[in-house]
Amino acid sequence: MCGIVGYVGPAEPSTRPLDVVLEGLARLEYRGYDSAGVALVTEGGLAWAKRSGKLTNLTTALAEHPLPPATAGIGHTRWATHGGPTDANAHPHVSADGKLALIHNGIIENFRELRQELEADGVPFASETDTEVAAHLVARAFDQTGDLTEAMRQVATRLDGAFTLLAVHASLPQTVVGARRNSPLVVGRGDGENFMGSDVSAFISHTRHALELGQDQIVTITPDSIEVIDTEGNTVTPREYDVDWDASTAVKGGFATFMDKEIHDQPKAVADTLLGRTDDRGFLQLDELRIEESVLRSVDKIIVVACGTAAYAGHVAKYAIEHWCRIPVEVELAHEFRYRDAVVSEKTLVVAITQSGETMDTLQAVRHAREQGSKVLAIVNTYGSTIARESDAVLYTHAGPEVAVASTKAFLAQITACYLLGLYLAQLRGNKYVDEIAGYLDELGAIPEKVQRILDNADHIREVAREMQDTTSVLFLGRHVGYPVAMEGALKLKELAYIHAEGFAAGELKHGPIALIAEGQPVFIVTPTPRRPELHQKVVSNIQEVRARGARTLVIAEEGDHDVEPYADIIFRIPQAPTLMLPLLMVVPLQIFACELASAKGLDVDQPRNLAKSVTVE
Ligand code: F6R
Repeated sequence: MCGIVGYVGPAEPSTRPLDVVLEGLARLEYRGYDSAGVALVTEGGLAWAKRSGKLTNLTTALAEHPLPPATAGIGHTRWATHGGPTDANAHPHVSADGKLALIHNGIIENFRELRQELEADGVPFASETDTEVAAHLVARAFDQTGDLTEAMRQVATRLDGAFTLLAVHASLPQTVVGARRNSPLVVGRGDGENFMGSDVSAFISHTRHALELGQDQIVTITPDSIEVIDTEGNTVTPREYDVDWDASTAVKGGFATFMDKEIHDQPKAVADTLLGRTDDRGFLQLDELRIEESVLRSVDKIIVVACGTAAYAGHVAKYAIEHWCRIPVEVELAHEFRYRDAVVSEKTLVVAITQSGETMDTLQAVRHAREQGSKVLAIVNTYGSTIARESDAVLYTHAGPEVAVASTKAFLAQITACYLLGLYLAQLRGNKYVDEIAGYLDELGAIPEKVQRILDNADHIREVAREMQDTTSVLFLGRHVGYPVAMEGALKLKELAYIHAEGFAAGELKHGPIALIAEGQPVFIVTPTPRRPELHQKVVSNIQEVRARGARTLVIAEEGDHDVEPYADIIFRIPQAPTLMLPLLMVVPLQIFACELASAKGLDVDQPRNLAKSVTVE
C-alpha cells in the first residue's frame, strides 16, 4: 500500500522532476489514495506540498501555488495506517530544520519507542504517523555523518517492520536515497537521469530498464549512478532486467475506467499466460523452476495460500488439480495458514497465488511454509516482486499491469496459470498422456475467443445492472467450480458497488441461507453445464426453490441450456465449454454487472473506498 516515486535528473533546475513524480503518482494512485505529496530539491532548498484526498487535490494546489524548478524529487500517494488521512499526516515528512524530506510505504512497528526517544530529546512532531520518526532519525544521522546513504543505512538497522523509505536533502541537489525491507522498491535506469518507484509503472514511460532490489538494501541514485549496499555496508550488484510491456498498457486506452479496460483485456491476459508454454516435444514448461523434478514427483499434498480474489482462483484450481493429478489440494487464506499449526512437510507443495507479489499476508505465509521445509511455487503477475524472488519456483501470469484496485484480469490469468501447473504436474507424475494434456491446452486456448464473445454481447448485462442500482442486497449461488465464481461475483459487487452481497455453495442453500429469500431478493445462480446432469439438475432445482420463495433469479447459463428458462427472470448467456473451463467464462458477466452497477451509482470503480491495490501490511 502507498505508492512512492523518486527522480533525479540534470544539474540545471527544471520542471521535469515534478512532472516525472506527478506522472508516477498518477500511475501508482491505485496503491492508495488517502493523500498525496511531493518534495523537490530546488536552488532555494527543499520545497514541498501535500494534500489529503486524491491526487487531484494536490495537483490543484500545485496549480495555485507552483513549486520552483528542481533537480530531484520524491512523491507519495498514501493508504493510511497510522494517523487519519489528513494534510498533516500526508507524506513527505520533513525534518525540523526543513532540510530533509522522507516518504514511506509500510509500517514501522517500533515507532512508539523511537518517537518517545526523539521527543525526550526535544524533537517536535507534526503528525501522528509512524513515518515521521524515520524522517527525524535520518536527518539526525545525516547531521552527524554528512552522508545520506550512511544515514539511511544506520536508520534502516534500527527500524522493525516493513518499509520502503526514500529521502532527499537540501544539500544534495542530485541525490535520492532509498531503503527497503518487506515493501517493494524498484529502480529505473535512464539516460542522464534515474528513477525509483514502488513498481515499474512509476517510470515506465521514461525507461524500461529496471533493477530489482533485495531485502534490507540501500540504494543511492544520482543522474549517472545507481549504487546499492546492504545494511552491513557491503556493495551489492542488483539484477537488471527489461520490462516487457510499455506505458500504453497502463493507460485506459479509450475506456472510461481502468476496470472496464481490464475486463476487456481478459482475452489477451489468458492468451498471453498460455503463450510459449510447451517445448518442441509438446511438454509443458514453467518459468523459473528451482525445484527438482524428483521433489515435485513426491509431493503428496498441495496447499494454496492466497487472499481475496487470488484465493478464489485457488478454489477453482483445486477442482482441476485434484481431478488431473490425484493430489489433495487445500486452499487456505494466507493469514489463516500462517497462524494456525498447519500440517506441512517436505512433501507439501505450497502454491502462493498473488497478482502483486507483495501481499504481506501471502509473503509471510510463503516464508512460514519455507521455514517448515516445504517448497513454494508462486503464481505471480508482477515480475521480480518479493514473493516471486522468495519462492522456490515461479509461474508468471502475463496479465499485464492491473491498475484498477479490484482484480479482474488477474483472476482469469491466475486460473489459467493454476491449470498450467496442474497439467504440468500431471505430465511429470504420469497422470496424463501428452495428447490428453494437449486436449486440455486446446480447451484453454479456446477461452480468449469465448470471453471476447461475452464482452461483445454485454449490453443486456449492463442494462440489467443499471436497472438494479437501488438494490441493497444480492445473493450468489454456485456449485462445484461455480461456487468460487459465486463468491468472486459477490466480492466484486461489495467492492465496487458497496452492496451487501454473499456467495454460497448452492448445496448449502437449504442448510440456512434460504431463510434470507424474501419477495424480490435478487439471486444470481451460476449454472453448471447440462452435460454434467448430476450437477446441472441440482442447480436447476435450486433456481426453482428460490424462485418459489419470491426471489428474482438472474441466471448465468450456457448457450442452449433451455432447462433454466422456465425459472429464470433474467438469463445471461455464456458460450459452451467443458466444466473445468467454465469459471473462466462464468465470472465475466458478474464482473461486468458489478462494474456497470457501480458506475450507474456514480462510484469510482477504479478506486473504491477504503481499499488499496497491494495490501503490504498484515
Ligand atoms: C479483490 C482484490 C483482492 C486481491 C487480494 C490479493 O478484487 O483485488 O481481494 O485479490 O488483495 O492481492 P494479490 O493478488 O496482489 O496478492
